[in-house]
Amino acid sequence: MRGAQITGWGLSLPDTVVTNADFEARLDTSDKWIVERTGIKERRHGGTTSGLAVESARRALERAGRRGQEIDLLVLATTSPDQTVPATSSWVHHQLGCRGAAFDLNAACAGFVYGLVTAVALLDAGHERALVIGSDTLSQITDQNDRNTAVLFGDGSGAVVVEATEGEPLILAHDLGLDGSLTRILYCDRGGFIVMEGREVFRKAVRATVESAERVLKQADVTAEEITLFIPHQANIRIIDAVGQRLGIDPARYAICLDHTGNTSAASCGIALSEAADAGRLKDGDLVLFSGFGAGMTWASAVVRWGGAPVATIGAGGPGERE
Ligand code: UT7
Repeated sequence: MRGAQITGWGLSLPDTVVTNADFEARLDTSDKWIVERTGIKERRHGGTTSGLAVESARRALERAGRRGQEIDLLVLATTSPDQTVPATSSWVHHQLGCRGAAFDLNAACAGFVYGLVTAVALLDAGHERALVIGSDTLSQITDQNDRNTAVLFGDGSGAVVVEATEGEPLILAHDLGLDGSLTRILYCDRGGFIVMEGREVFRKAVRATVESAERVLKQADVTAEEITLFIPHQANIRIIDAVGQRLGIDPARYAICLDHTGNTSAASCGIALSEAADAGRLKDGDLVLFSGFGAGMTWASAVVRWGGAPVATIGAGGPGERE
């Protein structure tokens, strides 16, 4: 497989902070319940899916030292597109001045990892430089008067620039999957609000995430002890703890943003990765385990080797340039 590397990362959160106290003031809930049952203290509301995506992507491009026109593949993972048609990625592609292909991908909360795996496969097929963005504004499709869901979801975006290189593969193993018989435990009809059987989603999420993560560790021939950073989908700290315990990864190696972002769906793994990278928690050669799950019910895991030896990225002349 062709080499690839993450060369830039960035995140974007709307300005409006919604605390547990804000919910406490108007719903039959409490800060204590929300923190103990979910691990969430606050979340951000506002913005649009495309606007947040553009902002996180600009930061990722800046970090990579790249301009939009150097990107020939844009994958936008989202469950909350700004419009039905055209794809939200069209707006993002235009505002960033990218060339080549762009498309939306809906794998719900597993979207970022689905997007990363898809982009890397397309780099292998000849594209040269990709933006992978997870962006969601679930506050717009959440009934803010329903305590079962309102306290859980937040808005945000996380992005990475991934470049084809002459070096090592980025993804050592991946596992994408779905059980479509579970569509009714978590859904949102057009024009409606998110409906969720929380307890059932919780149970299935733990099992799916553990099994998927175990598959990629085995495929990559890597032990849990060798994982420097575990980047799970950020839905509930109790799900993350249950998964971490079963895999044998201690909490010091989790990347967590849930406490201040809530569940940002397709954005969550991108935001957690960006914060961890900004905090200097990753160095060249480190192994990162991503694992996400979401409505569908989807799941996605990947073992990623961070950085690696300095390698030349592939020059201009990928598929996008032929247009
Ligand atoms: O990204 C993928 C999408 N979502 C998820 O992954 C979410 C997965 N599920 C969960 O995270 C948890 O199931 C929840 C956080 C949604 C609920 O936690 P739980 O420990 O599974 O609680 P529960 O559903 O067993 O409900 C316990 C009680 C219920 O009351 P009764 O029926 O026992 O009287 C709920 O009505 O807690 C009640 N409850 C609340 N109480 C205070 C539900 N939401 C709230 C709330 N504040 N916000």
